[in-house]
Amino acid sequence: MCGIVGYVGPRQAAPILMEGLRRMEYRGYDSAGIAILDDGELVIRKAAGKLGILAQELVGAEPQGTTGIGHTRWATHGAPTTPNAHPHTDRSGRIALIHNGIIENATAIRKTLLARGHEFISETDTEVLAHLVGAFYEGNLEEAVASALRDVDGAYGICVISADEPDVLVVARNGSPIILGIGDGENLVASDQSALVEHTRSVVYLDNGEMAILTPDGYRVRTLTSRHVDKPINQIEWDLATIERGGFEHFMLKEIFEQPESLENTMRGHLLEESGNVRVYGLKMDDEQAKAVKRIIITACGTSWHSALIGKYMIEELARIPTEVEYASEFRYRNPIVDKDTLVIAISQSGETADTLAALLEAKRRGASTLGLVNVVGSTIAREVDGGLYLRCGPEIGVASTKAFTSQVAALAMVTLRFARLKDMSLLEGQEYVRAMMKLPSQIQEILERADELESLAESFKDSTNALYLGRGVNFPAALEGALKLKEISYIHAEGYPAAEMKHGPIALIDENMPVVVVAPRDAVHGKIVSNIQEVRARGGRVIAIVNAGDEEISQLAEATFIVPETLDLLTPILTVIPLQLFSYYVAVARGCNVDQPRNLAKSVTVE
Ligand code: G6P
Repeated sequence: MCGIVGYVGPRQAAPILMEGLRRMEYRGYDSAGIAILDDGELVIRKAAGKLGILAQELVGAEPQGTTGIGHTRWATHGAPTTPNAHPHTDRSGRIALIHNGIIENATAIRKTLLARGHEFISETDTEVLAHLVGAFYEGNLEEAVASALRDVDGAYGICVISADEPDVLVVARNGSPIILGIGDGENLVASDQSALVEHTRSVVYLDNGEMAILTPDGYRVRTLTSRHVDKPINQIEWDLATIERGGFEHFMLKEIFEQPESLENTMRGHLLEESGNVRVYGLKMDDEQAKAVKRIIITACGTSWHSALIGKYMIEELARIPTEVEYASEFRYRNPIVDKDTLVIAISQSGETADTLAALLEAKRRGASTLGLVNVVGSTIAREVDGGLYLRCGPEIGVASTKAFTSQVAALAMVTLRFARLKDMSLLEGQEYVRAMMKLPSQIQEILERADELESLAESFKDSTNALYLGRGVNFPAALEGALKLKEISYIHAEGYPAAEMKHGPIALIDENMPVVVVAPRDAVHGKIVSNIQEVRARGGRVIAIVNAGDEEISQLAEATFIVPETLDLLTPILTVIPLQLFSYYVAVARGCNVDQPRNLAKSVTVE
């Protein structure tokens, strides 16, 4: 979603801002803009559409100046037009502001300002905030921003400059991430680490209710009420190469191929082969506390919700703790039954998804203990939970989540082992799980080496308009994830179903044009799924099956099969999802779709 970047220092700001915005493109956006302080004047350039359009407008006309702010906007209120793009200015035209989030009382503030003669050129809440800052401005930008924000309800991350105060950036956070990038003789700010890492790896994460004032030589953090705050400097652990495409045509493909390594990184240091257990200090839960957990609720959105479903199968089967999975957006507005014996697990790649964060805070308010399975270090969810596990799968840039999914499932398997070994799981069974998990990275590698099989398969299915994905047991969520991948990036309508449930509706859609992808490794429900495939074949459906080697029965029924290595039943989704990811990728490429930035989607959904 929206991206913020700001620069103050000795270098020309415009190229740094444009590059920073480019690094955040993956988050999803539909207009962009920059504001530069050019010799005491504010120069603003913005354009609807992709960054390339703005870049084109800057050719030969790049504003000169060493202080500036840049923004990519993902439209929520008001269409993605040039007037609605950020930065927005105040009434004097000398203050410029960019904003992520939503100002909830913008309509009321707008009314008051209109009565005082203000005129607005956009439909945005951000322009209202810019005018409010201007209304409070009496020669001190920091104080004007603080005063304006004291009148504001809602979520924001903002960055503001004034033509009357060159060399100053004022930023503030309440709900939307703001990260300071601490440089040498220059300072930066961004809503995403990827815009900073080219310039510095020293960062300061602002917390809600905090503001910062940055100049080329330093920075200061305070609260809205002027209290000074000492903040630790953190180091970003990855470098630029990690977020480059590294020879791959798309980030999504690179990230699919990274999975042997990313999965290894998720599990590194946690698996204990000899004791058939895991050691995850981050869970911050001793044996007594773990035994006291009577119920688990896992909450998440999108792909993370699918991994949560797999977690339910694992936890209930092995740890015998009743587990529910709930969309975060539903959980937050219900009256969920949560008490101190309930453990709420929030799963989020970004750690910033607004609904997941709100669900987590609601669970905390109701007295639950909380765990987070999060990828982005220092993200809001990671900092709000009582304990948790970083996925450590590296930055995920492709909008369609891939490597985060397999890491989430592995993280859930580790959490499951932690509980299961305190209950009925024997040493031998624990060891069997740990060994099976250790084999997964090389088994994924084996699958990736046969990616070309899926590329040719994709070619013969690329003109489909609908697809059905079927799975049973723990591979039902894998089918859901396969369908989500396909629709996200190729725009082919796809649905995931528990295979037997197909008879209660989707079977009506099956004809000779309908691809049906069946996830059918040789597990406890294999025999059942063979019958479901027969039902599809009887209606002429085109079956693609994900199977284990030597599955003659399914090979004879299916138009095409793809073989995945064998593992323990509950771990199979980590392997079966890989061909589903690759199939979607190749179909989308064959259809000429923008794989890394699919239309209308955002990487990190920071509004509800
Ligand atoms: C967006 C992304 C999905 C992601 C979901 C949850 O919809 O496009 O790929 O699965 O958000 O994101 P999270 O960062 O919380 O895992």
